[in-house]
Order: sequence, then structure tokens, then C-alpha cells
Amino acid sequence: MKDEACICFLQWALPHLHMRWQGFRKVRGQVCKRLGRRLKELQLPDLKSYRMYLQDTPLEWHMLDSLCRITISRFYRDQGVYHSLYLKVFPELIAVARQKDDKILSCWCIGAASGEEPYSINLLWELAGLKKYGTALRILATEVDQDMIIRARQGCYPASSIRELPAKIKARAFDSKGAQFCLKERYRRRVQFLQQDIRNEQPGETFHLILCRNLVFTYFSQTLQEEIARQIMQRLKPGGFLVIGSHEKLPGSIVGMAPCLQGKQIFRKKA
Ligand SMILES: C[S@@+](CC[C@H](N)C(=O)[O-])C[C@H]1O[C@@H](n2cnc3c(N)ncnc32)[C@H](O)[C@@H]1O
Repeated sequence: MKDEACICFLQWALPHLHMRWQGFRKVRGQVCKRLGRRLKELQLPDLKSYRMYLQDTPLEWHMLDSLCRITISRFYRDQGVYHSLYLKVFPELIAVARQKDDKILSCWCIGAASGEEPYSINLLWELAGLKKYGTALRILATEVDQDMIIRARQGCYPASSIRELPAKIKARAFDSKGAQFCLKERYRRRVQFLQQDIRNEQPGETFHLILCRNLVFTYFSQTLQEEIARQIMQRLKPGGFLVIGSHEKLPGSIVGMAPCLQGKQIFRKKA
């Protein structure tokens, strides 16, 4: 399939799915490959015919939506975020929790892929000395794709997924199995995975820390970003922190959040 044909198709189709082309520009290869496979399955000659097929077969839009999921992730992605979490965010949350005699901090990772991000938070907590303060951390990881959740629960990754992890953590937390590195069970059990589509489901509780990186504020349309950002805000406790991706921006319409660390990547909700 020609790149120009795929670009033209995505520029037409993504707005129908409330997504935006700008987010896909650099990573379109993954989606174009899947589109090529889908054409073969349907025995269609090209994307023009797939466009007609979509117009005649409304259910196919659900399939296209799933083909447009970008699943790239890795442990300690944007290491600076983890340094800020370690040096500033968690110490502040722990201090406030101790004042209030709260025993548990809660964290929600949205679009958790195969577990790289929630497990990174757990490793930071378990192996960087944060748990000595006597507060516990509960991590909820939500993800729309059931296959990704299955992989997350298995917890085995190629070397490229753990290349940014500090060597000490890598050595303590993983067992090597052939070409794979498998996270030890004791570092997996505290992370709870739940299948949820952030566009229409969110957890019922509130959180001290929410990570929403490289999903909503990259791939979704402006209107959808604003809607979801408001819902995320409602699930953040006063004084809680929100982390977004390094190339992302919070919609301007969101008030009550002050950027506090990592440029404009970590926000704190007014207490
Ligand atoms: C690019 S990955 C980002 C993973 C991780 N947050 C990070 O920054 O490394 C985006 C993940 O979000 C998931 N996703 C896509 N659409 C979603 C939706 N509507 N609700 C929940 N998860 C979604 C994808 O399946 C994918 O695993």
C-alpha cells in the first residue's frame, strides 16, 4: 500500500472516529500495515474500496477503531518523569497522607498498554525506597484492548522495552527467559488491570496520582480531549497530580490545574 494513499485515507477516516491526524503522522506505519492486512482479509483491492465498504457497513467502523490503536510503550518512558515522581510527587503525597493519617495512596494509569507504565510506577515504589514511609500504593491500570491486558498479566518483554530502566532495578526485578525478560510475580501482583474504554468508562473512585500519557492528548480530537480531561479532573483528589506525555498539552479550557514540574507535563490540582 502506498504511503500517500494511507495518509489520504487516515485524514478522511480519523475525524469520523473523533481522532486527529496530527497525532498519527509519525506513527502511521503501524496503522497502515494493519490496514493492508484488513484489505487482504476482506479481499478488497485498495483503500478507496475500503472507504466504500465502510460507508456501506457501519459495523466496520468498530474494526477500524481497533486498527487505529497505537500500542508503543516501554518501562521508564521519559525517565525525567520518574525522577520527578521520586523526588517531588511521591514525597509530597506521602507527607500529606501522613498528616491526614491516610494509609493508602492511589494511582490510575490510563491506556496502560502491556503494563510497562503501571509496572514502572510499582518498581519505583518498591525498589527506590518509597515504601519505607509506611504508606501503601494501589495502582489501577485501565486499557481498552483485552490482548494487551493478557500480555500485561504475563509480564514478559523484549530487551528494548526495559532499556531505559536503571540497571539495578532491571537486575532485581526481572528473570530472563530466552530473549524475553519476565517481571517477577511479586512486582506484578499489586497492579490491578481493568478493561475500560476511556471514552465511555472511568473508575468510580478518586486518585492521588493519574497518568494519562500518549493517548488522549495525542490521538483524540480536541472536543474529545476536553471532555475526557474534565472527567479525569473529577477523578483527581484535591492536591493530586496529573502526568501527561512529553509532547502533549492539556486543553486550555481546563482550569484548576497548575503545571508544577517537568515543564508542562506534571500538573497539580488545586487543594
Ligand atoms: C501509545 S500507548 C501508551 C502507553 C503508556 N501510557 C505510555 O505512555 O507508554 C496507548 C495505549 O492506549 C490504549 N488505548 C487506545 N484507545 C484507548 C481507549 N479508548 N481507552 C483506553 N485505552 C486505550 C492502546 O491500546 C494502547 O495500549
